[in-house]
Amino acid sequence: MAPPPHQRALLLFPLIFLLLLLLAPPRADAWGKEGHIMVCKIAEKYLSEKAAAAVQALLPESAGGELSTVCPWADEVRWHYHWSSPLHYANTPQVCNFKYSRDCHNSRGEKGMCVVGAINNYTEQLYSYGQKTSYNLTESLMFLAHFVGDVHQPLHVGYEEDEGGNTIIVHWYRRKTNLHHVWDVSIIDTAIKDFYNRSMDTMVEALKMNLTGGWSDDITHWENCKNKWATCANDYAIESIHYSCNYAYKDVEQDITLGDDYFFTRYPVVEKRLAQAGIRLALILNRIFDGDKADDRLLQVQ
Ligand code: ADE
Ligand code: ZN
Ligand code: ZN
Repeated sequence: MAPPPHQRALLLFPLIFLLLLLLAPPRADAWGKEGHIMVCKIAEKYLSEKAAAAVQALLPESAGGELSTVCPWADEVRWHYHWSSPLHYANTPQVCNFKYSRDCHNSRGEKGMCVVGAINNYTEQLYSYGQKTSYNLTESLMFLAHFVGDVHQPLHVGYEEDEGGNTIIVHWYRRKTNLHHVWDVSIIDTAIKDFYNRSMDTMVEALKMNLTGGWSDDITHWENCKNKWATCANDYAIESIHYSCNYAYKDVEQDITLGDDYFFTRYPVVEKRLAQAGIRLALILNRIFDGDKADDRLLQVQ
């Protein structure tokens, strides 16, 4: 028997809601899962023996011994750990420079509550590895590995006004999405599909090859930063806002269609940022678990 009209309306409501949800452009969180996994697969290759052993000891059982499996975790808990949501990014007042004192805060103005502060904080926590500590160092490691990825996604240091490109609606070829999602996911997906036979692992291998070939001379530059006593996260954020201005936002306006021109000129930046994030994550973990602790203990939030 057919339900009476008022019940039919009630049944239709969730269906319409589901349809709207499917049609709405995605709201982006971070490099997509694939970006984070690739960053951590690169980092794993560059860990020292001691650092790899400490990482193994801290990983949860479910990781199967691989750091890369837990690198998207922070996005999965982002809405459950509500306080952690602003730790994925930092925004500027529509200027192409990043200043920690001006830009690193949450919406309530609490200082240090941004991706740079988070990297410094979780690095500092991990230095207590091997001592009696009240921190959950498994979570510290999973947050750190994720946020080092995020700070390298240029639009995770973007303009406040458009939420790092989240409110800029664009078409990626024929698909409606937003500029932030293009940088988190679409450019990577298109590359995996068109260049790497739909295999993320093949793309990771290509990035690793570049690191021992074309980029090998650059690695020492990537490892250094001006501030000897803090993590280099501040510098990574400065680089990201420059890439946002010069590549991500450049020549983009609401409702624009982005295709081959945008893809071929921006893809090299995405490749480089994934590789840099991987190398730098390994460097940070090597310093924490296998470094000259006397020097590195003097970490200071900038
Ligand atoms: N939400 C607001 N600004 C953001 C940004 N730059 N990146 C990711 N999510 C955001
Ligand atoms: Zn994130
Ligand atoms: Zn994102």
